[in-house]
Amino acid sequence: MAELTTRPFERADVAAASALLAARHCADRAREPLLPARFESPDACAELVREATDYADGVVAERDGALGGFLFGVPILRAPDHPSARFQPLRACMMFAHGHAVAASEDPFAVTQALYAALGDGLVRRGIFAHLVHLASADAPLGAAWSDLGFGRWSVYAARDLAPLPRAGAAGVVVREATAEDIALAARLADEEVRFHARAPIWHAYLGRDTAAAVRREIAGLVEGAESAVFLASRDGREVGVTAVSPAAAGPLFTPDRCAYLGQTAVLAEARGQGTGAALVGAALGWARERGYAHATLHFSVANALSRSFWTGLGFRPVLWHMLRLVDERAAWARPPGAQP
Ligand SMILES: CC(C)(COP(=O)(O)OP(=O)(O)OC[C@H]1O[C@@H](n2cnc3c(N)ncnc32)[C@H](O)[C@@H]1OP(=O)(O)O)[C@@H](O)C(=O)NCCC(=O)NCCS
Repeated sequence: MAELTTRPFERADVAAASALLAARHCADRAREPLLPARFESPDACAELVREATDYADGVVAERDGALGGFLFGVPILRAPDHPSARFQPLRACMMFAHGHAVAASEDPFAVTQALYAALGDGLVRRGIFAHLVHLASADAPLGAAWSDLGFGRWSVYAARDLAPLPRAGAAGVVVREATAEDIALAARLADEEVRFHARAPIWHAYLGRDTAAAVRREIAGLVEGAESAVFLASRDGREVGVTAVSPAAAGPLFTPDRCAYLGQTAVLAEARGQGTGAALVGAALGWARERGYAHATLHFSVANALSRSFWTGLGFRPVLWHMLRLVDERAAWARPPGAQP
């Protein structure tokens, strides 16, 4: 069998890469029917892949002149006060879901290993040590390939239709839509999420102080925007929980059609486990249903036992894993004598 070789992605690779991506999406959709149908078409995928060549670095693996796979990555360099800094490393590379595929005829590990070596070496040399790849949660062979390369599950993108919750409306919970006067309160309640994420065994860096102004602006946008809403829950007259709903803007292949996005969800510790979170989600899903949405998505951290059981209990299914590898930073400078710097 001819050898597998790698080289940079070229514009001329768009058609073959889009065919691989559309084939993967057909298989992903057969396992998860909520995924959008239009990307089963290579033409629809070609648009995404062509765009990726403008903003991301790409490599291909080929054997005997045929494309065995491709991989794109985009550096994400966040300011420390950006709201996303609360959930992700500041200096990372994201290998997004429409930026990779492996030919069905190839061994997923062999191709993934070759592609990641070709793309990742440049990242390590640029001092980008946090590498994230987005993978269909139901694609076990691809998940195993990335896992064998040192990647572990970091967070989940989960989806559901807008059927009413089986047990919405807990006794004693009042849910209302937030107004401009509630922005500071909503931001304070939303901070409970990142406070919780700072605890064992999640250990996310707590950046609530650095991000406070930007998070407040983000919540103000959600409260005041015509296309979004923030809901607050109270018990016995005390405000205890928050959630926000807006149009979903995550990756196109794994975001169902007509999809809303839930974020900023938190309930004060002393009020948890009594149906407050479910009442908030019920209100947000109802808001989306009334506006013609058909689905909702959200992200949660896999190490967060509370959110994991909460969201799956409410019928959300993981559709995408965000897998993370943190490369040992010493690899950039502790090199064998005579090796290329
Ligand atoms: C995740 C979180 C928002 C859930 O809020 P909550 O008010 O505790 O959630 P609920 O009480 O509605 O649901 C908790 C449990 O009660 C159950 N429940 C739902 N409706 C209920 C009702 N009407 N009556 C009683 N219990 C109910 C839920 O099924 C769930 O059961 P489970 O533990 O078996 O999964 C809350 O735990 C929290 O703030 N965690 C820390 C921050 C965080 O993780 N945020 C989410 C980030 S994605």
